[in-house]
Parts: sequence; structure tokens; C-alpha cells
Amino acid sequence: MASANPNPQLPSPRLGLQCESIATDTTTIRSLDWDRSRFDIEFGLRNGTTYNAFLIRGAKTALIDTSHLKFETTWLPLLQSQIDPVAIDYLIVSHTEPDHSGLIGHLIDLNPAMEIVGSKVAIQFLEDQVHRPFQSRAVKSGDTLELGVNPDSGVEHRFEFLSAPNLHWPDTIFSFDHGTGILYTCDAFGLHYCSDELFDSDPGAIAPDYRFYYDCLMGPNARSVLQALKRMDGLPEINTIAVGHGPLLRHHLGLWVEDYRTWSSDRSKGESYAAVCYVSQYGFCDRLSQAIARGISKAGAQVQLVDLRATDAQELSALIGEADAVVVPTWPAKADADMQASVGTLLAALKPKQWVACYDAFGGNDEPIDTVASQLRGLGQKEAFEPLRIRQVPAGSDYQRCDEAGTDLGQLLTKAKTIAAMKALDGDLDRALGRLSGGLYVVTARQTDDDGTRSSAMVASWVSQASFNPPGITVAVAKDRAIEALMQVDDRFVLNILREDNHQDLMRHFLKRFPPGADRFAGVTTLDGAASGGPVLGDALAFLGCRVVQRLEGPDHWIIYAEVEQGNVSDTESSTAVHHRKVGNHY
Ligand code: FEO
Repeated sequence: MASANPNPQLPSPRLGLQCESIATDTTTIRSLDWDRSRFDIEFGLRNGTTYNAFLIRGAKTALIDTSHLKFETTWLPLLQSQIDPVAIDYLIVSHTEPDHSGLIGHLIDLNPAMEIVGSKVAIQFLEDQVHRPFQSRAVKSGDTLELGVNPDSGVEHRFEFLSAPNLHWPDTIFSFDHGTGILYTCDAFGLHYCSDELFDSDPGAIAPDYRFYYDCLMGPNARSVLQALKRMDGLPEINTIAVGHGPLLRHHLGLWVEDYRTWSSDRSKGESYAAVCYVSQYGFCDRLSQAIARGISKAGAQVQLVDLRATDAQELSALIGEADAVVVPTWPAKADADMQASVGTLLAALKPKQWVACYDAFGGNDEPIDTVASQLRGLGQKEAFEPLRIRQVPAGSDYQRCDEAGTDLGQLLTKAKTIAAMKALDGDLDRALGRLSGGLYVVTARQTDDDGTRSSAMVASWVSQASFNPPGITVAVAKDRAIEALMQVDDRFVLNILREDNHQDLMRHFLKRFPPGADRFAGVTTLDGAASGGPVLGDALAFLGCRVVQRLEGPDHWIIYAEVEQGNVSDTESSTAVHHRKVGNHY
């Protein structure tokens, strides 16, 4: 049965369902969320998303994951059209994030005898989430679950589980069906991309979203990705990765897996890293920690997310003790014994030369952030950034501040490497490269959505026209620039072209080092509404309103190709400011 590419004329949000067989005795029920524009972290979606669940029938029947609560009135009837819920023997919970676990409580009501299978941590989290008694079975890597032989197909279905902590929740497990060769990974290898396409038949169409999803969710957990890949290498041949978001990976499986291996290996090179701690299911810790981790990664530094609730004492002590920087949330003031023990382990493992920093978890019962900050500096540790105080439910600007603070910290960790790389350039080559010249520009971007307004700006000189029809330009943006997050495909920005006879003040202003989250436009004259995408500077010679079409990844810059949609010149007599350099190892 297939359904539901919904009528595009319907008002937002458009929600649909798709139900298809994907292998012997195996059916997927995909919840299509065509219009979802943001995800739980500060993560813009351009192509909506899907929440994929799976029904596998051997002698016994298992359901893997459910759906988001917003599909309550349609998903449950569709499931019931496929199977009487009391005939579901097992519900395998890949992890307990609400986009996949939102209807578990409803299913327990329909079938209280159903056994819920998940990691030990997932079962604990679920007890707090569903507030109902349920049957459960905790599993770990290597454990199996026998469904037995399907009487019609004759195929035997046996699940083998793999622990995959931090991909991207602490309680994540993968499930491999030996009967079909399908590996169910939920968030890992997924992408936020809503379409009727069940599989990855058009890899070019989905590759940018696959990469963006990796960068946002998996990149900060690169070490954990490599551990999971190692466990996957021990499985028999995998023919499909059935993901929890987006199309299922079948036709180009080797490429997608190799991407994860390459990207994660690149990010895990070198020994120094920042340990970014969080307390799972407390306040806004998980999302805020991910924003900080993403900022650190942008600066080319390594990062390891550490769940203070789920990491055992020995591992916690090692991860903190070996880190070059440690970022800690405010923890619950009235913590249970396990949490108190974790905090004790964390503080005892700190080393004098580490960078430290802290952020508000905003959990409603937090230890005051100044107390946390002073405990972190107990051995004379250096503060990487000012405590990130959050006094209301975090909005887009708070996540942006966390991201930028993370980048500042990342730059502290990579400083020595950056200086060494600059010095390593051959002198003649360096001087020759320095003879390349460019104009002087200020790129501005501003985005407003349900989470509020985020804006940024940067001085640019690596800018070039790149096409006539349609008119297009390229801009090179260093990977650790805050504005990079606002220049994803389809985002709009403004290129302000500076005047030769009046650019010094703007240069001085925008070259300043801004504290995380600071308003780049305070004290600058802007022509509001002159262009979509970002502020037009009052003192600019001209501006171009641009839309990002493509991003090419270089070693330390993104090369951004954008179509120019609008433009204007304020003074036809003046010339563009030109940037002459002596050397090529910096701007
Ligand atoms: Fe897709 Fe971690 O939920």
C-alpha cells in the first residue's frame, strides 16, 4: 500500500504517510513531515523530514520505533490496518528521542504485554517518559532477539544488536536482521529529506543534506561514529541501512558508509580534543552542548560529547583527564546519588592546564552557573569563554552564541597548529601567492524564523564573479566563520562592496573580534529592507543580493557559489576598494 504525497494546496504543515514493503516480511511506515523547517538543535531544514518505522514478521513480530506525536491520529490507524497491535510481540526502541518514541505510550495502552527492547539507558529514559508500566528487555552489543521463521516466506528473522552511544543520543542501539541483511540505525546515516522516494535512487539530490546532517549531528561525535563502524564491520554483508530519517540507503550503500568513515577519521586525527559535557534529559543540555560542539568542530578542533548521566566513572575520568578543554553545563542542584558521583568524578579528573568553560542547562533546578564556573577553575584552569548564561527557553540567538563560543574555544586549541601551518609555507611561493589581489567586501546575513532572529557579518576579499547567466559569484568563507552557518544552500546573503575612498571605518568595525553572540551591526548605518538576506551597509558602494546554490568544500574554506538576484550602486563615480597583499599565508 502506498499513500500520501499530500495535496500541496493544503495549508501547512503538510503531513503524510507512506507504507511500503522493503524486503521479505518487512514493511516500512514512513511519516512524511514535508514542511518541518527546524529540528531539535539549531539546525535548519530545507526539505522537511520523515520519521521511519519498520514492521518485521517472523514467527513473532517486531516493530522498530514509532513516530512523532503529531502523527497520532493517522499513524496509529495505518499501523492497525497492517497489524492488530496486540500481535506485536516486541517494540525495538532505537533511542528515546520523541520524534521516534512519541507514540510508544499509545502502543503500550493498546498492548500492555508487548515487550520493549532497548539499551539499558533507553529503558530507564522511557520509564520517565511514558509514565506507564511496561514489559522490557535491556540489550547490549552482541545480544540477539529471535523472531523465528515466518510461516509464509520461510525466512528466519534474528536480530543482533550493536551499541552506538552518542549517535546521536546516549541510549542508541542499531539492530541487524540476519534474515534480510537490513541494518536499522535510526538517526545514524540519516538525513532530513522528505520525498516519496523510498530509497537513495538519486544520490546527487540527497548528498548535500546527507553531509549537512552529518556535520550537525554526527560530526561532533566522530569518535563514536568510528566505534560504531568498527562494530558494523563485524556483521555479515549489510544490503540496506534502514534509517529513521529520509530515504533508505540501498543502491549506493558503500559510498554513504565510506563518507562516514572518511569524515569521522578526518575529524578524529590528532590527540587534543575538547570534552563537551551534558546531562541527558535535563533542561536544554543536549541541544546546547551540540551547538557548542559544532562551533568547536568548525575551528578544526576535535570534540567529544560526554553524557554525565550515562558515562561510567572510569570512562568519564579518562575522557575528562585526557581532554585539553572541558565544557560543563550547570547540573541539577538536587541531584540523585549517581549524578552527584558523576560530578565528583568530573571535578576530580580536571587537570591544571586545561581550558574550562560552562553553560546554563536551563533545567529549572540548576546549580548556579557562577558556582559551577568557580569549581571548574579550582586548580587554576584557564577560562575558555565567559559562562554562557541562559535566562529563558533557548532561542536561535542562544544556540548561535553557543556555536560562536565553541568556535572561540576551538581556535584556542588549534592556534599552535594554525601558526605552524602559516610558517610552513615556502617563502617564494608565499610571496607569489600574495600577489593575488581582490576587492574588499562585507558579507552580511540575517535570518528570522520561529526561533527568533540570527545575523552575522564578515569581511571578505576572496570573491569573484563566476557566471553570466544567471549572474553568479563565488565567495570563499573560512570554515570557522560564524556566518558560515547562515550560508547553507538556499540561504540568502548580501555582498556589500566597499568604496576605495571610504572603507577604513567599516573594515575596522567588522575586523574586530566580537564576543559570542554579539550584534555585529551595533553602531553601523544599515539600509533596512533594501535587500532580502541581510543588511545593506549605508556606506557601501554597491550591494548584491545573493542566494546560495552550491557549496564546494576546500581544506579550510567553503567555496560558496551563489546566484545574484538583485543589486544596486550608490555612487557610479567611485571605485571598489582593492586589497593588495604581500604574502599568501593569510588574508
Ligand atoms: Fe531522530 Fe534522535 O531523533
